Amino acid sequence: MELHVADHPLIAHKLTVLRDERTDSARFRQLTDELVTLLSYEATRNVRTEPKVITTPVAQTTGVQLATPRPVVVPILRAGLGMLEGMLRILPTAEIGFLGMMRDEETLEVTAYAERLPQDLTHRQVYIIDPMLATGATLEMAIDFLLERGVHEVTAVCLVSAPEGVEAIQAKYDGQANITIHTAALDERLNENGYIVPGLGDAGDRLYGVV
Ligand code: URA
Repeated sequence: MELHVADHPLIAHKLTVLRDERTDSARFRQLTDELVTLLSYEATRNVRTEPKVITTPVAQTTGVQLATPRPVVVPILRAGLGMLEGMLRILPTAEIGFLGMMRDEETLEVTAYAERLPQDLTHRQVYIIDPMLATGATLEMAIDFLLERGVHEVTAVCLVSAPEGVEAIQAKYDGQANITIHTAALDERLNENGYIVPGLGDAGDRLYGVV
């Protein structure tokens, strides 16, 4: 497993405003969108391309285009939805699959309540988007859904990660699958309620309000 923690002053600045409890939902959505666009630039460094011959006004040349089959972006509902537009700004031709997952706030157990993915994902490059990598249980379940469908290469893009979650993913998949995590920050720890410290609270609630 590879872990990339962003090191850029613009990302650090935007994340600080995002974490602030006084930041309202409208601004939170805007900042999430901007952060994902910045993170996706690095996270897509491994996206596959193929040669493409074109003619400029001056000469013929060979450039590149995104290879087929197209990459797949999978937001984890509900909070991952807040990252979709920012990701698609970088990868506008990606196919989109959906996974709906919910964690029980008492037991921290995760259940899947929705799945809309292509049946066969063999050889597809998949980008999972989910703002918070806390215990790792949600990401683990999402990766397992994808591996069952033939995926070999998964990149997760997260805003804030906890060491516990990163270690859980590393322990489960090291040597088993090609997993890369891009995160804007690696925080201190999880608290007794499974929230990331210092974190930013409940990302879904902050994006969309409490439903
Ligand atoms: N999910 C969140 O939204 N926030 C956390 O801190 C942990 C999990």
